[in-house]
Amino acid sequence: MKCSAIKPLLPFNLIDTVGNENLISTECVLCGISKIKVKVNMLKLSKWMTIAAGITIIVVLVSYFVVTGEDKASDSKYSLTVPNGLSFGVIKGYENWHLVSSHYRTDRNEIRFILGNSKLIEAYRDGAGKNGKPFPDGSILVKIGYSVKENPDWNSSIEPDVLKRVEYMIKDSGRFEDAYGWGYARFVYDPGNGTFEPYGKDKTFQNECISCHVIVEKKDYVFTDYAGRQIHRGSGCIKLINRGL
Ligand code: HEC
Repeated sequence: MKCSAIKPLLPFNLIDTVGNENLISTECVLCGISKIKVKVNMLKLSKWMTIAAGITIIVVLVSYFVVTGEDKASDSKYSLTVPNGLSFGVIKGYENWHLVSSHYRTDRNEIRFILGNSKLIEAYRDGAGKNGKPFPDGSILVKIGYSVKENPDWNSSIEPDVLKRVEYMIKDSGRFEDAYGWGYARFVYDPGNGTFEPYGKDKTFQNECISCHVIVEKKDYVFTDYAGRQIHRGSGCIKLINRGL
């Protein structure tokens, strides 16, 4: 028998709620057959949608503040200045500079990476630092020092651990005439709070730097030689890239 006299849906007879759906029963006035209708509970659904939207907004806001906060923290280092007037900002973007070479100091158990700006790299290619050839003004060498730790995946390999300091030398023969043409700057890293501290109480701090760097006076006060990136074929090195470096 076709059931034609279903009671109007209102008032609903809500018998259960499953997830976001309400089970609503209706009953035929003639035959008494009851039917169960499933209705999506928009109120409940919209509650979940509101929660999801809220979470999305919170995630977006948190990541915005984390990213910009980090940027601000790393940006603030650029205004730090050492007593000879050189700021961290002079080497802004150094993280992407060219690798000149690296050193491992056995007495300090530290690994150091030496980076250079493009002016410096060009100068190396033109033979600066050798045979008394000086680096031109504007050349910058950055040295980044780290403590070391064992590579967890290969115990005979060591790798950088904690950042110790970032320091640099900039050639400006007029401004730093009394320091053999180079300006020195060092920023000591505090891993505890992630900040840098300019090194040196007054301008004489440079004397300490010079006292060692004069050892390599003949190389224009630069210890580091450019580590060649050579293409080896067969038994010998047949082609050098970067004009002989
Ligand atoms: C005790 C000696 C000594 C003192 C003091 C010293 N340096 Fe150096 N510096 C070196 C040595 C050795 C190297 C070669 C890289 C290495 O072994 O770490 C070097 C390399 C550098 C380099 C990379 C360019 C190059 O010459 O190879 C920079 C930049 C630098 N030092 C900055 C400084 C600054 C800034 C100071 C002073 C705050 C300073 N150094 C004080 C010994 C010294």
